[in-house]
Amino acid sequence: MYGMVMKSIESYVLRNLGPTAWNVVAAENGLEFASLIATEGYPDEQTVGLVVSSARLFDLTPAEMLRKLGDYWIDYALASPMRELMTGNGRDPGEFITGLNALHVRTQLVFPQMRPPEFEAIPESEQSVRVLYWSPRAGLEPFVEGLLMGVARMFGVQGTVERLTSLGSEVTAEFRFCWAPAHG
Ligand code: HEM
Repeated sequence: MYGMVMKSIESYVLRNLGPTAWNVVAAENGLEFASLIATEGYPDEQTVGLVVSSARLFDLTPAEMLRKLGDYWIDYALASPMRELMTGNGRDPGEFITGLNALHVRTQLVFPQMRPPEFEAIPESEQSVRVLYWSPRAGLEPFVEGLLMGVARMFGVQGTVERLTSLGSEVTAEFRFCWAPAHG
């Protein structure tokens, strides 16, 4: 995956565990002498390697780690030059998910070789959508769960994400994504 995704993992590890921990994660994945470059492509196995190594240091399962990283990605993108793409992509979480494919198409200007996932949002009520997710990759469903929680947070609402048993054979995964005003 593109270095921007890898750099968000680096940023999460640095922020929460510091440089010594990041050096361990980097070394375990052959990156000890390299600086990650946002616009360069890296093998997916190396991205997954960073997740697995980080999970061990945080004492989390890789799925739990992916959830945290998905949630963090929202902050990371908002703090990046991509901020406007994020803030201009919808007025509520439902609209935002509806606009996700277009958002990824716009990102392809910066990351021309990217193979983004695809999403479809099927409205269920004012404050919930069924989210269909297609990916050329396996195992990133918890990342999507974290991302959706982060999207709710970005809009200042409380999100819940439920994984649905998918009936469509060609869809990678389905979720029910609900949001409600945050309390307290
Ligand atoms: C401006 C914000 C964003 C940028 C710049 C961006 C860019 C990218 C890039 C470069 C990749 C790696 C693909 C590759 O290298 O082939 C990626 C993957 C991904 N993106 Fe985005 N993205 C953004 C926002 C989002 C949001 C808000 C979501 C969901 C709520 C999302 C969902 C995903 C998922 C799930 C993947 C993992 C790849 C997969 O599932 O196959 N992205 N994105």
